[in-house]
Amino acid sequence: MTSAIALLRSARAGSPASVQYQPPDPCRYDFFQGQPDPGAYPVAELRAAFNAVFDDEGITACKYQGAGGRAEMAYGFVGLREEIAKLLNARDTVDGGRALDASNVMVVNGSSQGLSLAVSALIDPGDGVILEQASFGAVLGYLQQAGAEVRTVPMDRDGMDIDALVARLIKLKAAGHRVKLVYTIATFQLPTCSVLSLERRQRLIALAREWDFMILEDNCYYAFHFDAPPPPTLLALDLAQADGGGRVLQSDSCSKTIAPGLRIGWMAGHPDALKALAAVRQDLGVSQITTRALARYLASGSYAPNVEHARLLLKQKRDAGVAALRKHCGQWVTFDTPPGGIYFWLEMSEAIDWPKVPAAAAAEGIALRAGELFSNDPRAERFVRLAWAHMSIQDIEDGIALFGKVLARCAGK
Ligand SMILES: Cc1ncc(COP(=O)(O)O)c(C=O)c1O
Repeated sequence: MTSAIALLRSARAGSPASVQYQPPDPCRYDFFQGQPDPGAYPVAELRAAFNAVFDDEGITACKYQGAGGRAEMAYGFVGLREEIAKLLNARDTVDGGRALDASNVMVVNGSSQGLSLAVSALIDPGDGVILEQASFGAVLGYLQQAGAEVRTVPMDRDGMDIDALVARLIKLKAAGHRVKLVYTIATFQLPTCSVLSLERRQRLIALAREWDFMILEDNCYYAFHFDAPPPPTLLALDLAQADGGGRVLQSDSCSKTIAPGLRIGWMAGHPDALKALAAVRQDLGVSQITTRALARYLASGSYAPNVEHARLLLKQKRDAGVAALRKHCGQWVTFDTPPGGIYFWLEMSEAIDWPKVPAAAAAEGIALRAGELFSNDPRAERFVRLAWAHMSIQDIEDGIALFGKVLARCAGK
């Protein structure tokens, strides 16, 4: 019998067949979801911070809003916004750049909510949006739902190809579309882990003014560099412009640096840009309890050493994974050693019969994410992303060794 919901779903919800990914059962090596190292979750510090919230401000923390009034339902607990502004000022400023304060920060239920608010606030049907050739699938979904004209540009190790971006801008304009937004994961890009070079960052900032668009900078991997610290963010560079900035909205998250279960992220940028986000926000805000606990955690000084601890753990895992890939999969895949981030992005050799790989990997209990999930471009289907940060070094090595055997079986078409 057909269920009622199958007939009532909106066009945006797709067909009942368009379900979320189901991992193989049993799943021995779960390379599917990007998650931090659970050994780096600051469980004891978070418990202490939550306890202190209940001890000191329990009743207030249980309300929709605190002393900040209704604005806290749109922008979040002001104490956390202040702590986040301090964190950003300490981590990422350039000479002549303006410092941030609470008015530059909106707290959201995970940065994915912030990204979806940014799309709602800026994009009308037919507006042009440009992003990297392979990118965060959720944002592609928000853009499709908003009716955006989405175009992608190629990337290399230095990130988005800015000449190709200019060509896209010219073409979209000629076709009558106004480009309002360029979405970029400039630092340790998902899924490639490439880093937009400083020179390209500066060109992108200049283009935003010349062509009158906003840059949506997704910054959730910025903390995890393994070889050299990345260049300043687009937001920091924008704030140092002669006009004082206002062209960059930056999303960031506690999901990779503290714990994804908190579901806390933030948007940083000009107060006017945040006002546009607040205008489309309908969710009655972020948990007062969690945001007060997080403000205490950030104020305690534990954040920076915990992130450094996680970074060093991840670097060891990156090195082990790269060695295992070279040893067990080198004949079948090419890849760049990621300079940061939490993924391996592998291009299959022509010898691999790619359509066989997902099922063959699943049969061995290996979950992985196929390249086409990061783009609307069928050419991405020869790519695979492995997420490894949450796994032990032993599991990363064993899982990659098994994946090498799967590839060997799928070779020779
Ligand atoms: C590039 C990118 N942006 C944003 C997010 C969303 O993170 P969250 O909503 O947990 O903050 C993710 C999650 O993996 C991501 O990979």
